[in-house]
Amino acid sequence: MSRKALIAANWKMNGTKALIEAVNNVLAEIDTEAELLICPPATLLPFFPPSNKVALGGQDVSAAVSGAYTGQLSASLLKEAGATYSLIGHSERRQYQFETDALIAEKVVTAVTAGLTPVLCVGETLQERQQEKTQQVIAKQLAAVYASHPELLVKSVIAYEPIWAIGTGESATPEQAQETHAFIRDVLQSYDNVAAQQVRILYGGSVNAENSAALFTQPDIDGALVGGASLKPDEFAQICLNYQTSAKE
Ligand code: PGA
Repeated sequence: MSRKALIAANWKMNGTKALIEAVNNVLAEIDTEAELLICPPATLLPFFPPSNKVALGGQDVSAAVSGAYTGQLSASLLKEAGATYSLIGHSERRQYQFETDALIAEKVVTAVTAGLTPVLCVGETLQERQQEKTQQVIAKQLAAVYASHPELLVKSVIAYEPIWAIGTGESATPEQAQETHAFIRDVLQSYDNVAAQQVRILYGGSVNAENSAALFTQPDIDGALVGGASLKPDEFAQICLNYQTSAKE
């Protein structure tokens, strides 16, 4: 089953109009097999020029459709600003905004209903990995969304982001990542067998120009969610170039 790769940039609370220009200039020059996605701070979305090459996404979306939710952004607001995707359930939101699996599931429903593609982020802490609970934790995070809404899987992207690898410079090894990606695909089969083969599972956590090519050779790694390295235009472009279907194991 060949899946179109997706390389996504998560700028987090960083970025400027100058970075938009620099990244666009570099990406315009490269020929990559992957689809490209940038998730900047939402205030920057309208400053991206229209592009066929780079899709835009939010970093979060409200579970509510509209109304009195000070500070939140609805799916339709994000869409109007140019987004077609949104990250949902990033570990920094789970940790700092106390987002629960139940809230994250609501957000996925709201996003899909409004026509945004959710990039659902899952992953374990270092302690959970050491206690050999990685699979249990991830199965629960996936079940929270897809057990009651299996029909949403075909409209989703999944990002596996081990929390111990985010921003630490210590990426999962290609073998560690592949093992968990294969597990995720297995779990998803119980919700929708066909969609589980089609859904793109991105790896995130200290992806950079050096380690990305080896990660991308793994059969169940369909792209990357890149934080820190996505703020360096040349490095992000190199990561995009490193995705080569022909190198898949
Ligand atoms: P990182 O962040 O690449 O800086 O580790 C990834 C993420 O949090 O999405």
